[in-house]
Amino acid sequence: MRRSSALFFVLMAGSVAGTLEAQVKEAPLPRLVQRGGRFALFVDDAPFLMLGAQVNNSSAWPATLPKVWPAIEYLHANTVEMPVYWEQLEPRQGQFDYTVVDTLLSQARRHRVRLVLLWFGTWKNGSQHYMPEWMKLAPEKYPHMVDKNGRPVDSPSPYATASLEADKLAFTAFLRHLKATDPQRTVIMVQVENEPGTWASLRDYSPAAQKLFEGPVPPEVVTAMHAQPAAPGASWQEVFATEAEVCFHSWSVAKYVGQVAAAGKAVYPLPLYANAALRDPIKPGSPGSYESGGPTDNVIPIWKVAAPALDIVAPDIYMSDSVPYLKVLELYHRDDNALFVPETGGGSGVARFFFSALGLQAIGFSPFGMDYTGARGASRQPEEFLAPWAQNYRLMGPMAREIARLNFEGKLQAVAEETGKPAQTLSFGPWNANVSYGAVRNGRGNGNPEPTGRALVAQLSDNQFLVTGFFCRVDFRPGDGSSDKHRQFLRVEEGTYENGVFKPIRIWNGDQTDWGLNFSSEPQVLRVSLATY
Ligand code: DGJ
Repeated sequence: MRRSSALFFVLMAGSVAGTLEAQVKEAPLPRLVQRGGRFALFVDDAPFLMLGAQVNNSSAWPATLPKVWPAIEYLHANTVEMPVYWEQLEPRQGQFDYTVVDTLLSQARRHRVRLVLLWFGTWKNGSQHYMPEWMKLAPEKYPHMVDKNGRPVDSPSPYATASLEADKLAFTAFLRHLKATDPQRTVIMVQVENEPGTWASLRDYSPAAQKLFEGPVPPEVVTAMHAQPAAPGASWQEVFATEAEVCFHSWSVAKYVGQVAAAGKAVYPLPLYANAALRDPIKPGSPGSYESGGPTDNVIPIWKVAAPALDIVAPDIYMSDSVPYLKVLELYHRDDNALFVPETGGGSGVARFFFSALGLQAIGFSPFGMDYTGARGASRQPEEFLAPWAQNYRLMGPMAREIARLNFEGKLQAVAEETGKPAQTLSFGPWNANVSYGAVRNGRGNGNPEPTGRALVAQLSDNQFLVTGFFCRVDFRPGDGSSDKHRQFLRVEEGTYENGVFKPIRIWNGDQTDWGLNFSSEPQVLRVSLATY
């Protein structure tokens, strides 16, 4: 063969291989599934547990990603939440720049993680700071809300038709691009806006909004809120009294966000959600003491009816005490809403609540500010900040699929330590799992010095359990209350999951089982086979 024709064949072979490489097989669409009163996020057609990490607000740029990936690796996260900035995506009206999104996709794939992309569109923490310059410079077309005194506030009007149309266009362009470039489903979910609502005013007082506020409450809102209007066609004030303005603003904001979500979903039906800046779940302050208009716990039904294209409304939890934290988890774990914690923070004691969330079938959990850009807490050692979260994910990473499946099947219970409660009982029918904290050798203990304990127990078969945790002791007793039967450990195997199969590495016995199963800071997973005598 002449050299030139040999070269031709080499080039041809190379280009065929390149084309094949480019033809990635289309994976099934991620979707939220509800069955038997429980939810799961299906990714690649099976339940998936998001071990998430959200980066700082200004970290999703090609220049900052080198400071993101080492943190994600250290955490053992399987999903990264990254913003997509409207001002970057559409620098000139109608001209879209996908280079940053493409970089996020390719680098996430290289690091073998999934993405949840956060659409920083019309709202970011109640403001319109991520609108592109061409919108910021035309406030008469893309207006701010106006307060009671007719002054503009730092929040977009949910009645600005041009803003809504522009957001729909940009969001659909973004999702259309994902549809075309992400057949492998690196992106498993998208957040629509960020903490939508308003801090500086309870609602929009523009003439258009005022007219609607004085008009009748839409009947679907009355039904959703189980409200009792005195007469048909009653106004917001008449139906909701002191909460009238918050309910009205929630309806207004949710309608807008719902339209953006629906437009995006029509082009690429990924699971979508909106996140909430919370109100105090125990002693809710009066309207004005929390962000108005977002999916706070009191208006979730309004969001559900106004924005059906959103699959989930999700709490951003920045609390450290167990009482409010657990209350928030309960409030967002509803028959019509899967529990998902897209942001959390609030101190080193917060990582334990990952287990509480799993106990309520959470589909995912994500601490905030997880990168090495020094954007927050620059005085702290970055790994000190990340370590408690890394501990959770190092443990769960290899078995995240099994945990998601067991939870979806209703076989899993998980709890975190609460101050003043050194013991908890998890009931599995014929067996009770007794969890205790701060236990000494043969005594039960009074709790850990700091409440850092957490435990997870899942039933694998009638008398076999998966058990794990940190800073706790787990033991079993027959659940029928009969005192003449004793628990007997047939076999306690420590091991790891590899590709869905439990691989034992040793058997625990002697001091390791005589006083119950003790978990320290080590990531240890046990398969426990029980009998009675
Ligand atoms: C909640 C927001 O959703 C995040 O984007 C971020 O601003 C945090 N608050 C605080 O840093």
